[in-house]
Amino acid sequence: MKKKYILDREDKVTDQRLFTKRREIIAGILSAPFVLNTSNLFGKGENYLSFKKDMQYSTNEQTNTIKQITSYNNFYELGSGKRDPLINADKLNTENWKLTVDGLVENPITIDTEDLITKFSLEERIYRLRCVEAWSMVIPWIGFELNQLIKKAKPLASAKFVAFQSILDRDNLPGQRRNTLNWPYREGLRLDEAMNPLTIISVGLYGRVLPNQNGSPVRLVVPWKYGFKSIKSIVKISLVSDEPKTSWNEQSPNEYGFYSNVNPNVAHPRWSQRRERRIGEFKKRDTEIFNGYAKYVSFLYKNMDLKKYF
Ligand code: MTE
Repeated sequence: MKKKYILDREDKVTDQRLFTKRREIIAGILSAPFVLNTSNLFGKGENYLSFKKDMQYSTNEQTNTIKQITSYNNFYELGSGKRDPLINADKLNTENWKLTVDGLVENPITIDTEDLITKFSLEERIYRLRCVEAWSMVIPWIGFELNQLIKKAKPLASAKFVAFQSILDRDNLPGQRRNTLNWPYREGLRLDEAMNPLTIISVGLYGRVLPNQNGSPVRLVVPWKYGFKSIKSIVKISLVSDEPKTSWNEQSPNEYGFYSNVNPNVAHPRWSQRRERRIGEFKKRDTEIFNGYAKYVSFLYKNMDLKKYF
């Protein structure tokens, strides 16, 4: 990826309290002896992005630190341990990355990811990410609503679902040399879920382009669903008529459903989902239905039995 050096202007910040808190956190990180160089965490030098702050959908909870967000990850292409994605981050080659939107559309698109950054107006959305393993983080994502990209492609009436596919690069991605999953990683949403304004395509976090371990250069963030729906390093988005196959559902259908809505009332077969541990905290907290986003999304499931469609 070409380097971009656009500095976010402080005077764009409207919520001073949040901003001050963020500055304190960043100052804390910079002064911490064990993280002297944040560019190691991002791995891409000084790639700042220009963005607006979202006030409608962002949570005002304290964000996790850059160090937590970039060193405790799930990214099986880079290994199955939580530290592996940071350690193997440079194995993901993001040069000349293209994202394709195809399938049941009038206007298929192939776009250079550099253009995504310049053609869409970027917002910072502070969202909770709740993992099925019962931990959570609060992350200042930078991105745009997926519905903007889908609208550009003009879906046909027959399009009912959206299928996502990550990079396939067995030569360089250490995790893809093993059959942990049926590669490439695939995910899916119903079209109305994909069009919901909460669903974003993220290209950055903490003011800079995405670190490789967080799914550079483009990933999905669906904040009311378990983290595994938020597919990383996407190369293809296809509009389709039937529910698409998804990696984790294919791997263990009784553990990972297609919907995967955060739901404290439906236990994972091996553990409860009632409580969660925010990374960096000791005391567990109660898990909220739809990860706290019920007022924006519960209508999507109003006639569905969420125990059956877990
Ligand atoms: N996307 C791909 N391509 N490969 C993965 O292994 N892991 C998922 C999701 N997206 C994964 C992926 C899981 S299980 C989680 S919890 C989130 O990414 C973690 O995102 P983060 O590391 O940025 O917090």
